[in-house]
Amino acid sequence: MPAEAPARGDDVTLKDGTLVRVRPIRPDDEPLMAEFHAGLSTRSVYHRYFHITSLEQRITHTRLALTCRTDPALGLALVGEHRRDDGRPEVLGLARLTRTAPGDAAEIALLVVDRWQGRGLGRALLQRLVAAAAERGVQRLYGDMLADNDAMRAVVRHAGFVIRAVPGDAVVLRAERALS
Ligand SMILES: CC(C)(COP(=O)(O)OP(=O)(O)OC[C@H]1O[C@@H](n2cnc3c(N)ncnc32)[C@H](O)[C@@H]1OP(=O)(O)O)[C@@H](O)C(=O)NCCC(=O)NCCS
Repeated sequence: MPAEAPARGDDVTLKDGTLVRVRPIRPDDEPLMAEFHAGLSTRSVYHRYFHITSLEQRITHTRLALTCRTDPALGLALVGEHRRDDGRPEVLGLARLTRTAPGDAAEIALLVVDRWQGRGLGRALLQRLVAAAAERGVQRLYGDMLADNDAMRAVVRHAGFVIRAVPGDAVVLRAERALS
């Protein structure tokens, strides 16, 4: 398996011309990730985690320390980082790949701060996550979403995923894509 994705990342231009660097998450991203979580609406949190968690719960040091480190054998997390006018960085989006079980399948998840949704970042993050998964030998990607999550449905469809009902579950849909 290749080493972790290049730390530098690559640049993406959003629909509105904003330049965002997509790079692997780092342990020193904890303060940026706390700010990132503060920019999420209850709706976005619910769509991501399928339940509500408070900001306080999401930004404990224990949780952030865990989520800012990824074991390359188990997965990868990419952040979309933007420089404000005063030069300070902010994380606008997060894409996570998790190898949930031994084998060739991995789960995807996406989260973009509300004020930056709809500008193409979700699509760009997923495109890079798919490429990173393919480089790591993953052969099948999947991700679950709530049935009313039209934005995620659009993003995964654009990336070549097929959306299927989950048997026995009227609320959750599963997106799947094979990688060759
Ligand atoms: C899902 C999510 C990651 C998408 O990120 P994003 O940056 O807004 O996505 P993009 O701007 O790249 O693309 C959004 C697409 O959805 C479409 N879209 C957005 N809202 C829509 C709606 N209500 N109905 C139909 N399409 C919609 C947009 O038109 C766009 O498609 P296009 O590029 O063909 O125009 C973001 O909305 C998010 O973080 N939501 C909360 C967390 C979540 O739902 N995660 C998914 C489960 S893990």
